[in-house]
Amino acid sequence: MSISTVMVIGAGQMGGGIAQVAAAAGRKVYLNDVDLDIVKKRISFIEGLLAKDVSKDRITEAQKAATLANLIPTNDIAMAADADLVIEAVIENMDLKSKIFTQLDEVTKPSCILASNTSSLPITEIAAVTKRPEQVIGMHFMNPVPVMKLVEVIRGLATSDETLKAIFDESVAYGKTPVEVRDVPGFVSNRLLMPMINEAIFCVYEGVATVEDADTVMKLGMNWPMGPLTLADFIGLDTCLYIMEVLYDGYADSKYRPCPLLRQYVKAGWLGKKSGRGFYTYA
Ligand code: CAA
Repeated sequence: MSISTVMVIGAGQMGGGIAQVAAAAGRKVYLNDVDLDIVKKRISFIEGLLAKDVSKDRITEAQKAATLANLIPTNDIAMAADADLVIEAVIENMDLKSKIFTQLDEVTKPSCILASNTSSLPITEIAAVTKRPEQVIGMHFMNPVPVMKLVEVIRGLATSDETLKAIFDESVAYGKTPVEVRDVPGFVSNRLLMPMINEAIFCVYEGVATVEDADTVMKLGMNWPMGPLTLADFIGLDTCLYIMEVLYDGYADSKYRPCPLLRQYVKAGWLGKKSGRGFYTYA
């Protein structure tokens, strides 16, 4: 199936990045959020990233203009009527996602594929609120989307082979490498990454090492581009805690218990880079 028109729902960091790579691949992209100002600010941010790419001779001025022309801001979900694919990238809240997917099922054409960028919620459950579960799939991008090469493609219980193939092809068109993963808590990415981050927080909690030293061990010892505590701040400590809870509940296994220090930081509102303070402080 051919995909030429895409709607991305949620103009946060992830949604903006997804919209950017889809627009750069020549798709007409509706970037949707409840507040049009948020969408316009996100498009200005994308314009800045594209300008930097032009200054570094990675793209031409014409390619930048073409990408920006493909980005259409909207706060009206009904504009998804002519979309071939919708990618939802709102906050990790099942009630909100269920509401959005129910609405999308009504406003989109029957052939439209509905994807979620969820990092941990079950695709099968999201699909169950629609009348087209075979066309619902997880398309989990990594942050920052324009830079990271992976798309974790999550196949729900009912997802069809056709939908899987279309999303593999679409991911490749965006310059990404898709990997198929079954619909289990945390998928593969967060089942591996989050316990590692959580264990680094335990090291700090137990006084085994300072934040900086725990980060240095992984940066210099394992060649991670950023240490686990810097990465936790970058992802958001609330998101890290949320995903640990999903693993803990989903597997009912104590090895996934969130570190008390992580809970305490989230309760304090120390959410990482976005709140100005997490394991580090940010200007
Ligand atoms: N959007 C677009 N581009 C960005 C960006 C953003 N938000 N943040 C950084 N970049 C770009 C920079 O502009 C820079 O581009 P240039 O080469 O053109 O200058 C490039 O990335 C490298 O950035 P920096 O030189 O500033 O810093 P760096 O070398 O440390 O790289 C990084 C930054 C790419 C983020 C790198 O540190 C990295 O790969 N970190 C790990 C990121 C990671 O693990 N992401 C996955 C998180 S988990 C997830 O997303 C899923 C989940 O479910 C939680």
